[in-house]
Amino acid sequence: MRVLVTGGAGYIGSISVEALLAAGHEPVVLDDLSTGHRTSVPPDVPFHRGTYGDQIAMAHLLEAQRIEAILHCAARSLVGESVREPSRYYRENVVGGVALLEAAREAGVGRIVFSSTAAVYGIPDETPIPEEAPLRPINPYGETKRTFESALAWYGSAYGLRSVSLRYFNAAGASDRNGEIHDPETHLIPAILAAAEGRAPLTVFGDDFDTPDGTPIRDYIHVEDLAGAHVLALEATAPGDVRTGPPAGGSVPLVCNLGNGRGASVKEVLHAAETVVGRPIPHVVGPRREGDPPILVAAADRASAVLGWRPELGDLETMIGSAWAWRRRNPDGYAA
Ligand code: UFG
Repeated sequence: MRVLVTGGAGYIGSISVEALLAAGHEPVVLDDLSTGHRTSVPPDVPFHRGTYGDQIAMAHLLEAQRIEAILHCAARSLVGESVREPSRYYRENVVGGVALLEAAREAGVGRIVFSSTAAVYGIPDETPIPEEAPLRPINPYGETKRTFESALAWYGSAYGLRSVSLRYFNAAGASDRNGEIHDPETHLIPAILAAAEGRAPLTVFGDDFDTPDGTPIRDYIHVEDLAGAHVLALEATAPGDVRTGPPAGGSVPLVCNLGNGRGASVKEVLHAAETVVGRPIPHVVGPRREGDPPILVAAADRASAVLGWRPELGDLETMIGSAWAWRRRNPDGYAA
């Protein structure tokens, strides 16, 4: 299958490109390189620099590249930034996303897998969180992802677009080729590893939450396991596949959480990282970060029941070990 991967030079997108290649598919990457890295994409994979929000260019690209399905990973994805600059999140994640859907309609591409997020749930009433839980995002990032999920559902019933929305919990780890490096770095595991390298010490954002050790609990999932789920989700959008719709007419969107269904606290992640690097990691406890819920753990059975997905790298030390190995091989991050 020829798959356009938007955001294919980003952290999750680039590792999904690797998984598509390994499964025998043909990825084509679109990325504006605003946060992605050109060198994360293998040189023999077609690469187009541009934005998915450019409907005319997208319709042309989809047709010229004979694309059969879209893996839509590109988006603005920082919670704090979304609160400060909602305009950017609505323009890119919603307006840009709909432009991509319009281009797909024009080009006759009827299959899409969407990178969604646990942020659509906001502060959940119950944990582990099932997909049927109410969607009450507490920031523009989660809200814009929820809005695009809804657009997929309505495009499905009206135009027969087959879609899968994958609600990621906390992606972690690295492949041999690609890893996670952001500027600014807001995510826990890279921040811990940066502290281990002697850069800024880690600040633990609060230890007075209502959890056993007082620090927030998250469901960390290896990025290669996530990438594997993308391949299965794309395959589930095949015409006639009952998981995403009846053989003719309107379709039913499939929504799956992607997590291990197990939580780890900030302190547990820190201790696992100390085991991986073999020494104590400097840290201080600071105030809470605004908007951090105490516990976010996925009910993860739908992805395994419907997609046949089996995460294999769920052990914390395995995840952190792969991230650490990647950083040691790439001390200066990406070359470009
Ligand atoms: N944390 C620290 N210190 C840091 C960074 C993080 O203590 O320097 C803590 C956070 O307070 C949180 C946990 O580590 O309790 C995980 O934080 P991350 O920023 O790594 O991840 P989040 O759970 O906040 O965010 C993730 C995704 C978001 C998504 C969100 C859903 O990265 O895209 O889950 O709620 F929106």
